[in-house]
Amino acid sequence: MNLQKIHLIAAARPNFMKIAPLYHALSQERWCRAEIVHTGQHYDYNMSDSFFRDLKLPEADFHLEVGSGSHAEQTGRVMIEYEKIAEHTRPDWVVVAGDVNSTLACALVGTKLCIPVVHLEAGLRSGDRSMPEEINRLATDAIADVLWTPSADADANLLRENVPDYKIDRVGNFMIDSYEMLRDSIDAAKMVERFALVPRGYAVVTLHRPANVDHADSLASLVAQLSIASDSLPMVFAVHPRTRKRLGEFGLLARLEACANIRLTAPLGYIEFMNLVSSAAAVVTDSGGVQEETTYLGIPCLTLRDTTERPITIEEGSNRLVQIHALIDVLGEVMNGRFRTGRRPALWDGKAAQRSVIALKRRANVS
Ligand code: UD1
Ligand code: UDP
Repeated sequence: MNLQKIHLIAAARPNFMKIAPLYHALSQERWCRAEIVHTGQHYDYNMSDSFFRDLKLPEADFHLEVGSGSHAEQTGRVMIEYEKIAEHTRPDWVVVAGDVNSTLACALVGTKLCIPVVHLEAGLRSGDRSMPEEINRLATDAIADVLWTPSADADANLLRENVPDYKIDRVGNFMIDSYEMLRDSIDAAKMVERFALVPRGYAVVTLHRPANVDHADSLASLVAQLSIASDSLPMVFAVHPRTRKRLGEFGLLARLEACANIRLTAPLGYIEFMNLVSSAAAVVTDSGGVQEETTYLGIPCLTLRDTTERPITIEEGSNRLVQIHALIDVLGEVMNGRFRTGRRPALWDGKAAQRSVIALKRRANVS
């Protein structure tokens, strides 16, 4: 039997924890060989390599080294570089994850070379087309051949857009697989001690959406509110490189550094970050993945956005959309025990990769 070759596209921080469980599950199979293609969209050690280490991924089989740039530059460079690899190596499947520029770029390349494309984490919609990720989601789902969804609301979004239901496999949430795979190491990391904090006595902050951090006014107001809120609840702020750059450009870094109750840190490794989140009183974020991880852990998540592509984390989980001016009041609810912590959604159980391999085998006619 010829081994089927499967390219797993890894590009940016949130992709690695989605691809890792799939890589490990496919590595157990005898009918296929999984190869990792790193586009290089994220490249700092603590935005990329540290995740390969924590998630026990081997070095990428191919590295496109595209780096940063405008949307067109980045998407275009990934397309140009990945087309060379895909044409030369002719994979049987291309799996793209999430909603970053590399996701759409590689989906376009695969589709035009008539290689079946699988979209891992399909069907999420914020309804906000000013988010670059929403465009990436809509376009990727429109051209992918197989759509792996995390929950029923994602299936409904796709069906509403006339995606035929035979393309959809609801397999669950891969991020939870990574958490479960590393749960022992996460529980053993001593981040609370390292930051001299008290369990449930602090909030974790992570922000990087352009709508929050790319404009001086909105970033200044975020810094001001976090500063006031940290008087009642100490904070650890793991600063994304986009955000660090903007804080510097807008002259806000010194103001943030002067806050006695906010510990600033570089982006943390996955094990370190999840250890800190799991003992936190609350998380303040605009991250997509963190909304899901906090729902799984039942940790109050205050999402500083107007919309979310993950409404199930609000309907069933521990997430709430919060306007920046309401941050202090909502943190008060958390501290008074009045914030709803919800339940875990169906199929967020650590077995998404297992289900997706069964589904793919069926489509590959090898089951
Ligand atoms: C990207 C994704 C976003 C995702 C986020 C996860 C797109 C359109 N955006 O946003 O959906 O939520 O990743 O973190 O795909 N930089 C570094 N080092 C790095 C990477 C980036 O310093 O390793 C800096 C560069 O100055 C770069 C900026 O961060 O210009 C933004 O990086 P980019 O990948 O364009 O977008 P993100 O904000 O990271
Ligand atoms: N994360 C991390 N270290 C950090 C911040 C986030 O390991 O300092 C992890 C987090 O646990 C989640 C993922 O990064 O698994 C989310 O990525 P990000 O917020 O960059 O992207 P998004 O999900 O918003 O696209």
